[in-house]
Amino acid sequence: MTDKVFIMKHPLIQHKVSLLRKKETGTNEFRRLVEEVTVLMGYEALKDLPLEEIEVETPLETCKTPVIAGRKLAIVPILRAGLGMVGGLTTLVPSAKIGHIGLYRDPETHEPHEYYCKLPDSIEERLVLLTDPMLATGGSAIAAVDFIKQKGGTNIKCLFVIAAPEGLEALQKAHPDVEIYIGHLDRDLNEKAYIRPGLGDAGDRIFGTL
Ligand code: PRP
Ligand code: URA
Repeated sequence: MTDKVFIMKHPLIQHKVSLLRKKETGTNEFRRLVEEVTVLMGYEALKDLPLEEIEVETPLETCKTPVIAGRKLAIVPILRAGLGMVGGLTTLVPSAKIGHIGLYRDPETHEPHEYYCKLPDSIEERLVLLTDPMLATGGSAIAAVDFIKQKGGTNIKCLFVIAAPEGLEALQKAHPDVEIYIGHLDRDLNEKAYIRPGLGDAGDRIFGTL
């Protein structure tokens, strides 16, 4: 584990991840919980956003007070399931631009296949927040970071609600420069490359396609 990996300890995150795991948690609640966990993780991932001072007039006097410096931000969900995390981050940074990377895992080989990639302009100037609820083998996340780097992105943070040790190791090895934020680090992968204990298929649970 390097200093680029941040595994969330906050009790609210742990509690909400536990509710996500329950198989009886329905689509509506599942979506809401993914968004809430993302807000809490986003708070942590954005802890080093630079500030600048502006002058404002309060009802009592004029003062200098800090605001987020005009740094450009891009939220990039890995389709489909990463979309479920976008609302949590736009709650924190409403002005962020949003890109999309479409990848699906081959059910037999578990290799990622790209079907879409569109990123905001000036990606090289932006802090990129890549979102996906699940980091399993790491294949999808590695491919997504590859795309972002090919398009010029350099400052990348990845947010996963749940990760498997196998995927974390692979992503760190492929992209040691990216920061990785994880809601919970799970035990392992099963023979179908599903995370255990995990929460099942995140995309199906978010979109109700079970
Ligand atoms: C899931 C998940 C990740 C990927 C993780 O997506 O949302 O993108 O699998 O697996 P990996 O780390 O082994 O690549 P999936 O391919 O099922 O697509 P979906 O979001 O459209 O359901
Ligand atoms: N994708 C999911 O949605 N869940 C897993 O456990 C692994 C990959």
